[in-house]
Amino acid sequence: MPLTLKLSTSTLLETSAEVIALGVAELPLEKQKALVALDAALQHKLFPHIARAKFTGGPGQILDVPTWGYLPAGRVALIGMGKPKKGVDAPALRALAATASRQAISCASLALVLPDKTSGPVALRAVGEGLGLGAYRFTKYFTGKRRPDSDLAQVEVCRPGKATPAETKALATGLSVASSVALARDAVNEPPNELTPEGLAELARDIAKRGKFKIKVLDKKGILAANMKLHYAVGQGSTNEPRFIHLSYTPPKPRVKLVFVGKGLTFDSGGLCIKPAAGMGEMKSDMGGAAAVLALMDALITLKPSVEVHGIVGAAENMPDAGAYRPGDVFGSLDGKTVEIINTDAEGRLVLADALAYAKQLEPDLIIDAATLTGACLVALGKACSAFYVDDDRMAKRFESAAELAGEQFWRLPLLEDLREQLKSDIADLKHTGERYGGSITAALFLQEFVGKTPWIHCDVAGPVLGERAKGIYPKGGTGHPVLTFVSFVESFG
Ligand code: BES
Ligand code: MN
Ligand code: ZN
Repeated sequence: MPLTLKLSTSTLLETSAEVIALGVAELPLEKQKALVALDAALQHKLFPHIARAKFTGGPGQILDVPTWGYLPAGRVALIGMGKPKKGVDAPALRALAATASRQAISCASLALVLPDKTSGPVALRAVGEGLGLGAYRFTKYFTGKRRPDSDLAQVEVCRPGKATPAETKALATGLSVASSVALARDAVNEPPNELTPEGLAELARDIAKRGKFKIKVLDKKGILAANMKLHYAVGQGSTNEPRFIHLSYTPPKPRVKLVFVGKGLTFDSGGLCIKPAAGMGEMKSDMGGAAAVLALMDALITLKPSVEVHGIVGAAENMPDAGAYRPGDVFGSLDGKTVEIINTDAEGRLVLADALAYAKQLEPDLIIDAATLTGACLVALGKACSAFYVDDDRMAKRFESAAELAGEQFWRLPLLEDLREQLKSDIADLKHTGERYGGSITAALFLQEFVGKTPWIHCDVAGPVLGERAKGIYPKGGTGHPVLTFVSFVESFG
């Protein structure tokens, strides 16, 4: 059953929901009205319970409180929100709502009691997003007892005061954005025997149909005919043939033209330079960038911004085979530059090089790419933070604010000119990898060779597309990172 949300003025003593979730600030607890009311209703058993559990309202803390029959609800989940910030704290509200619905994921109904004074469409949009994000789980391949027999169906969002139409609409928009994020998560979670490059194309066709977007899909032959020889080379070792996908959303009188490009390796074995067995299965997530681009396009169906947005995906499977490309090979590219292959496991930048050259031909105001590009990025920033690269400081600020509002972690890394000489080849215009140290940077410099003078942001999302455990807005497995950042970035243009 799909999740339905409604705004309500019920207090936590009045709601008939099965579970109550309450956001608690990291401030003296006896001064928080909702806690005082709850304590009274629970015959003053609450504060001793809180003290025993050492719950302080710190970010990410969760305390389950039984209601001992004093309330219609079976339990109350106290969710720590940390120290309050000034103004609307959208990331904190989103994380609160996500944690709340994850706590109630198998229950029929939840009442989320918002912190005092939470109001306005920005806040309610974040709440709607969070509730949808937290209720996500990937259960498609479970059978029998492993199949959950119920899903969270009803959430009452409780807050004093009548909701404005804008707030009601924002809550619903948030839920819809969360369903777009779920599309990216599903694609990442889907096993690689099921989600092939053609599978990504099918997903794109479905989005195009629902959004009435223009779509172009090139198959293996078409990719070669279009001169995307680097993309072709990466796909040539697999029986799951490559696809190039281009979706366009063109509203009337757009303010700017943005082109998003996603790395769509539905599986990356490393090719002939094969990866070690341990962890190879995680390389089903090597299409996380593509998934985010498609999810963004899906979100545009409801958001309808006055921005022209193109979504491009370079999809392929990197496999070892008699027909696979090899180290030592030299290929031309759509841009004209020739590339000497050094390591077949550095396949993402090859697919992207052709896709970026294609994007440049659309003459956009800005190209933004997302790619699970390098292990070096994980070494640099850890698993929960993406790198972004951009020459222009103002654009960097704009992107940084979008990520911050989205509650996703990004850190800017430099396009160090010194390292560019590592990409010099003795027999071709470029070689496609440099030394081990600075590997995320040399990958970015390689991509830069193909965007020319077009303004460009490159996102190395190798870590955060896959989560090791549920935390905040992210579940374990496919996280949907960086969909929310992309949505917020597009919306920053109108
Ligand atoms: N898809 C990988 C990068 C990756 C590694 C993503 C770990 C997520 C987790 C990429 O195609 C790759 O294999 N990169 C190589 C490049 C190297 C051969 C220059 C890497 O990072 O080791
Ligand atoms: Mn690789
Ligand atoms: Zn890869």
